[in-house]
Amino acid sequence: MPKRVAIGSDHAGYRLKEFLKRSLPEHEFCDVGTDSPEPCDYPDFAAQVARQVASGECECGIIICGTGVGSSIAANKVPGVRAALCHDVYSAEMSRLHNDANVLALGGRVVGEGLALRIVRAWLETPFSGEERHRRRLAKLQALERATL
Ligand code: RB5
Repeated sequence: MPKRVAIGSDHAGYRLKEFLKRSLPEHEFCDVGTDSPEPCDYPDFAAQVARQVASGECECGIIICGTGVGSSIAANKVPGVRAALCHDVYSAEMSRLHNDANVLALGGRVVGEGLALRIVRAWLETPFSGEERHRRRLAKLQALERATL
């Protein structure tokens, strides 16, 4: 099923971002940049992807930096976003089935292109299970998001 996918990276994820777009022509990508390997700041691009997903402009998003760590931290600060950093296919599938993750974070310096493509394919193709226990846990995540410390 083709999806409208927001995608963004910093310089360390730029090559992998371009590779994924080329390798998945069946999907529509809304690329927020970066547009070159010149050094830039991952929160800028992770935030743009996260906002496109939270607003419903895109149904899901992919963010890539060197490790995926900084980008996932940034994206998870946007209400409504559940960003999952996955460097294996099992975690990618589970992040959809159990966590209904709507943003996938990847480390361009961690995974090679072949594995990254398998992870992304699995993530895009796996639906949320919809099971009651998972809905209950997601509701608790939503409550945490609303809570003031
Ligand atoms: C950039 O050098 C690197 O820090 C960034 O891409 C990312 O890995 C941060 O989490």
